[in-house]
Amino acid sequence: MTDDRLIVALDVPNVIAGLDLVARLGDAVGFYKIGLGMLTGGGLALASELKHEHGKRVFLDMKLFDIGATVEAGVRGLVQYDLDFLTVHGDPQVVRAAAEGRAGSGTKILAVTILTSLDRADLDANLIRAGDIAGIVVERAARALAAGADGVIASPHEAALIRALPEAQRKLIVTPGVRPAGSAPGDQKRIATPAEALLAGADHIVVGRPIWGDNDPRGAALAIRKSLPPLA
Ligand code: C5P
Repeated sequence: MTDDRLIVALDVPNVIAGLDLVARLGDAVGFYKIGLGMLTGGGLALASELKHEHGKRVFLDMKLFDIGATVEAGVRGLVQYDLDFLTVHGDPQVVRAAAEGRAGSGTKILAVTILTSLDRADLDANLIRAGDIAGIVVERAARALAAGADGVIASPHEAALIRALPEAQRKLIVTPGVRPAGSAPGDQKRIATPAEALLAGADHIVVGRPIWGDNDPRGAALAIRKSLPPLA
């Protein structure tokens, strides 16, 4: 049985490379994230193929942000691809519009709080108000969940604080910024191991480079799965 707590980020250039990686990973992985880098390389077609021909679950990471009417229309179009998860930025007006757009579909809307690649110096450069990142992330998460998000994206460092929110009852927490012990952080700044992320309250972890950048992606995925706490 695949353990869908592990979501692999298919951050490869096109559908051919994506399908090649999916074939190499085989039954080690049942859930994939398709992001912006793949969009012009056939990402939506790949989402359908993974879902309907390979029986995989699909997370489309679009991080949508626009006026409400545009977000609603965009989401309404995207849910026709039968996606499992779709991301939007966690601003309440964006989340509300996305929740309208996905009405009647099985797609879960996940809200991005603050990108896990950002630290306080980056937030200062972006004119985001003073205060520690964890506090801002938790407040954004609470507001997004109250506005109708099915879950949030957050770093493992904030997962426990979000899990403790009353707004987070029965909601999903998905954490990128996850690195197996000893692997390179890349541009991720607020990292934890896969097991730490789940123990902190995450439902799913998203892992990219430590799997697709490995010479043996299947071995890397299986090693991560083995490191996870037992399924509840
Ligand atoms: O290669 P790596 O494991 O860092 O990949 C993490 C994935 O999660 C990337 O596709 C990145 O876009 C995504 N992501 C993130 N931080 C967020 C939301 C999404 O790193 N807050």
